[in-house]
Amino acid sequence: MYNFEYKNPVKIIFGKGQIAKLRGELPQNQKILLLYGGGSIFRNGVYDQVKSALEGFPMLEFGGIEANPTYETCMKAVEVVRQEKVGFILAVGGGSVLDAAKFIAAAAMFEGSDPWDILTGKYSQPIAKAIPIGTVLTLPATGSEMNGNSVISRKSTTEKLAFSSPVVMPRFSVLDPECIFSLPDRQVANGVADAFVHVMEQYLTFPVNAPLQDRLAEGILLTLIEEGPKILAFRNDYEAAANFMWSATMALNGLIGQGVPQDWATHGIGHELTAFHGIDHGRTLAIVLPGVMKSMRAQKEAKILQYGERIWGIASGTIPERIDQAIARTVDFFESLGIPTRLPDYEVGSETIDRICQRFEVRKSRLGEHGDIDFRVVRAILEDRL
Ligand code: NZQ
Ligand code: ZN
Repeated sequence: MYNFEYKNPVKIIFGKGQIAKLRGELPQNQKILLLYGGGSIFRNGVYDQVKSALEGFPMLEFGGIEANPTYETCMKAVEVVRQEKVGFILAVGGGSVLDAAKFIAAAAMFEGSDPWDILTGKYSQPIAKAIPIGTVLTLPATGSEMNGNSVISRKSTTEKLAFSSPVVMPRFSVLDPECIFSLPDRQVANGVADAFVHVMEQYLTFPVNAPLQDRLAEGILLTLIEEGPKILAFRNDYEAAANFMWSATMALNGLIGQGVPQDWATHGIGHELTAFHGIDHGRTLAIVLPGVMKSMRAQKEAKILQYGERIWGIASGTIPERIDQAIARTVDFFESLGIPTRLPDYEVGSETIDRICQRFEVRKSRLGEHGDIDFRVVRAILEDRL
């Protein structure tokens, strides 16, 4: 196992009826900005619950954060935060609203010249400060409620970039599984796929004798495989919703990735599919992961075999046969959730592959746990998905 330092200060308030506890978590004397997305919180009653918990608090609202939040919209919120001297941001929604809150919080107090540099990495110093944030999560998927990551898209340049900083980790996150009863099938499926691939990015690399991390990762994968279909079949299954929600948080709160190699190539490539075509994040991962498994089968052999055996019970056959089966079972799982896994299913063809590879070539990107996925390997991965 590798050396590591791990600190996760996010307070989780989990369960039915817990939104009412917001009152005890928010600062009394600061202006609070309630940040939300396209309006789902008005339709499912979450807005009303938040408003009644916050009665009497000085508050203003900013809505309209898009799925795959844009830099352009976030910068409008930054203006409001500065003008109104907002002291706390309460993000209510899915990963997009939470990620937007993190970027707004950092951009409003940014000491460099252009906040976009937070995302490009041009601003090389660690981010010094951010407005504190808290969250009410309505879509289990990203783990944003318990990590310091944020992914922002810029319309004008069709880029989608991420940053990570401990200063934007939420002070608290309220996770009420009942909030997800209103999710459409597509978002449930996306969330299951996203959480599944978060685990795979931290697990499907090479062995470093970390059996606890492996078993934690496998526990999350098995739980998602069991619970995902239950929620798709019956949206108001509270127990399944609770297990799904906690699995998605655990998939990307940093715990399972400590002391082990990590990949993140599937995400890196997937972000480009969203940047160019607006494909939902979870779906891009279901497209790309099978290609990564195929192209990197030699480097990942030991872990693919372990994954195949412990997750899908594949224990016989030659090594190449077992790897093929593990990839096929992974594809079947995504498809069983209702997620198409090939590029033409999204009307994406070889032109997009050229554009993505060109981008990776210019950026000199080297993805994967060995840093050996360059633009040529990205091409092989994506051509496999045609
Ligand atoms: O905008 P509203 O009206 O709220 O509707 C949203 C949105 O249309 C809707 N929704 C959310 N909760 C709902 C609901 N509809 C009904 N009932 C509810 N309870 O679902 C749609 C999608 O929401 P969004 O927040 O975009 O989805 P998700 O949580 O999957 O977030 C995706 C974003 O997170 C980033 C992705 O790249 C993408 O931009 N990620 C963030 C990560 C992180 N912070 O660590 C890691 C991930 O790998 C990922 O990259
Ligand atoms: Zn993801």
